[in-house]
Amino acid sequence: MAEGVDRLSLRHPGGTTTVFVGRDAAAAARPMVGEWLAGRLAFVISSPRVLELHRAAVEALAAPAARVKVLTVPDGEEAKSLEHAGRLWCEMLAAGGKRDSRVIAFGGGSVGDLAGFVAGCFLRGVEYLQQPTTLLAQVDAALGGKTAIDLGATKNSIGLFHHPALVVSDVDLLATLPRDEVRSALAEVVKTALILDPLLLERVERDLDRLLDADADALQPVVLATARAKLRVVERDPREGDQRRLLNFGHTLAHAIESVLEYRGLRHGDAVAYGMLFATRLAEQNGLDAPVAERLRRLLRRFGLPSLPTLDAEALLEAMGRDKKALENGLVWVLPAAVGEGKMVRGVEPAEVRQHLEAFLEDPWAAAAG
Ligand SMILES: NC(=O)c1ccc[n+]([C@@H]2O[C@H](COP(=O)([O-])OP(=O)(O)OC[C@H]3O[C@@H](n4cnc5c(N)ncnc54)[C@H](O)[C@@H]3O)[C@@H](O)[C@H]2O)c1
Repeated sequence: MAEGVDRLSLRHPGGTTTVFVGRDAAAAARPMVGEWLAGRLAFVISSPRVLELHRAAVEALAAPAARVKVLTVPDGEEAKSLEHAGRLWCEMLAAGGKRDSRVIAFGGGSVGDLAGFVAGCFLRGVEYLQQPTTLLAQVDAALGGKTAIDLGATKNSIGLFHHPALVVSDVDLLATLPRDEVRSALAEVVKTALILDPLLLERVERDLDRLLDADADALQPVVLATARAKLRVVERDPREGDQRRLLNFGHTLAHAIESVLEYRGLRHGDAVAYGMLFATRLAEQNGLDAPVAERLRRLLRRFGLPSLPTLDAEALLEAMGRDKKALENGLVWVLPAAVGEGKMVRGVEPAEVRQHLEAFLEDPWAAAAG
């Protein structure tokens, strides 16, 4: 194993995913990837921006395949559509794709979600590899087997669980990421740290400036710890029946904010940061120690988040009710219980949520009153 590269694994109902994390993870993964690709047709699914920046990395990874076909999709969320999935399937059939062909997702979470979905449906499912190129995808989207496309305005509404055979997370690829993308992804890291990993939280507090600068030496242990924490939860609850919902900390309000804003004007991670502030406020009302809440606020203040746009509490409440993660019997709130510990709370009264939401929209950074 190359120095500075860690190898993790996730056992799931469909088998095992091997995850390589670190600088030059691709070199460490090469023997395994070589075997996985040998004699086969490999479809690389990526976007123009990522290929322009990092084509050499994916070419080196895919080199052991008998034949490689690169298929491009638009950058960002636009790729996650039925139209692009359909086009990719046509191109894969036309190129002679078979049940033993391979798919390589090379890009951020958008490319990964689409490519995983395309691989999961093509000829009833072919194996795929994720080579994530964003921090968000390395710490979250590429791990756990959730794949999806958007149907109309409804995000991630069509999809399946289809785990990658391999994930190759090379933190050096993150050097070209815009700072806003790094900041937004770090919110997901803080989410994981606050509810699952106190040491990770300390590390983010200590190294935040270097992390925001995408310093690879600072990112490497953070990507590793966040991936490890997520894999532990997914292994216990692969289909998001219960425990995996803990990873939804901050997302109940974040999804509502994004939906009301029609996915414009605030990045997902920034919305999650505001969602965590709100959930923490609810938690303070439910017994969370004030210093824990204050610690989260202090850390998130250092992120330099864009301000929260003007939002209507009623519209947010309605959007929360429509969230696909709401159950028949209402919303499940994930609230921090202590540093490194989250809990799921059902049955928070809608009137209570409304009251706190109105105050939160006035000043998201304030502590809960009373
Ligand atoms: N499946 C899951 O469990 C899961 C979890 C979280 C998020 N997601 C999904 O992930 C998507 C968001 O992913 P994302 O945040 O990675 O964004 P993204 O994939 O949309 O990429 C954001 C932008 O960064 C560019 N980019 C990618 N890599 C780059 C690099 N190395 N250097 C410079 N630019 C680069 C892309 O071209 C794009 O323009 C959403 O669709 C979300 O629903 C899925």
